[in-house]
Amino acid sequence: MSPLRPTSMPMLLVATVITATPTVGLFAQEGSPGGPVPQSLLSARRARLVESLGGRLALIGADHLKDIESEYPQDSDFRQNADFFYLTGLEEPEGWLVLNAGGPGAVVLYLMPRDPANETWTGRRLGPGPEASRISGIEDVRSMSRFDEDLAGWLELEANVVLSLGDERNRSAVRAPFERAGVVAEAAAPLLARLRMIKDEDEIRRLGRAIEITMEAQREAWRVAESGVFEYEIEAAIEYVFRAGGAERVGFPSIVASGPNTTTLHYDKNRRRTRTGDLLLVDIGAEFGYYTADITRTAPVSGTFTARQRELYELVLGAQEAGIAAVRPGSNIGVAHQAAVRHLERNSGDLCGQRSCSAYFIHSLSHWLGMDVHDVGGVLTPFEPGMVLTVEPGIYLPDEELGIRIEDVVLVTEAGHEVLSAALARDPDEIEAVMGEPPRWVRSR
Ligand code: GLY
Ligand code: MN
Repeated sequence: MSPLRPTSMPMLLVATVITATPTVGLFAQEGSPGGPVPQSLLSARRARLVESLGGRLALIGADHLKDIESEYPQDSDFRQNADFFYLTGLEEPEGWLVLNAGGPGAVVLYLMPRDPANETWTGRRLGPGPEASRISGIEDVRSMSRFDEDLAGWLELEANVVLSLGDERNRSAVRAPFERAGVVAEAAAPLLARLRMIKDEDEIRRLGRAIEITMEAQREAWRVAESGVFEYEIEAAIEYVFRAGGAERVGFPSIVASGPNTTTLHYDKNRRRTRTGDLLLVDIGAEFGYYTADITRTAPVSGTFTARQRELYELVLGAQEAGIAAVRPGSNIGVAHQAAVRHLERNSGDLCGQRSCSAYFIHSLSHWLGMDVHDVGGVLTPFEPGMVLTVEPGIYLPDEELGIRIEDVVLVTEAGHEVLSAALARDPDEIEAVMGEPPRWVRSR
């Protein structure tokens, strides 16, 4: 399918993305399809973190631009540290957010001053001006040139510190002042995880869009799949749909696995040429506005499941339904996992030989989902409304070159749960029907 060009524009996806585009002209962070995080939500998040601090000083570091000569920036463009973005809504590299800065609830944001010479290379910076205040809702925005001196002062007032480092380069920025003040900081991660696990309305909106884009990419993968296509061609179609839908990047390396590769859980080489009779396991997630989807479907590359593939597929589907049914407030990932295992044990028959197919379900049923694909949070934290997780049983039979995984995104609600990716076909007949459609986004070969 080359060249990669859309043959038609799925209007629904395009139209919904356009309505999400911010109308405010945010220089230096212009045009994020996810739009700005509402200030009221940013303030509420900061206030909740302050509440959990019990007076401690919190330092949240931003990430740095990658160095094109010594790092591997081809993997992704600049992505802000998740905690920093969650609390400030800012994509500005380098900087610190300080909470309880010299007084209960006081918030100070430090940003790098603008630098015209550097900006020629890496683009316009926001700088510590009124625009940064407008986006973040933080009134006290200072230049990074004041950070060292101010930090020494904050540490004189409060020696109990929690720290979210952002990237490792920030470690050296705080080492000397911490040593001078005799401070051993605690990790802010558990406090931030508690907050980030419960999604607010803007987070659900971003996740919803990431899921919509990812579902359409799954459909396009099915449409372009045919015997002889390379995995990377399908990957290209998927990631075309991602970018065209407003996703800034992949949430994780796209897994486009055919035949024997379906049994490698995190296969991402995507180099093999598909063959008739192969299964095609596609595990992908568009990242939209800093939130990633994570959806897996398994389909027959040539458009029709064999009887054996279908039987095993339906067994995995049943296990997924059992797992999803166990998602409700008060339950947890372990309980849902056991429900899926029980389904496999009761329904495997001799499909996996002498052993139950549960022996071939070799990973956890679920993980949290959000700004990271394996998002923050304790594995067995009881479900609460607003939490988002994946439910993804699988069976892997390497001897038969046969791996099947089905993964959906589930929101915990007061009443139980909502499958946010429910609009993407899971029924084998429905998958086969989409596979018969011509590609919509890319030319066929
Ligand atoms: N989507 C990859 C994983 O959940 O590990
Ligand atoms: Mn997953």
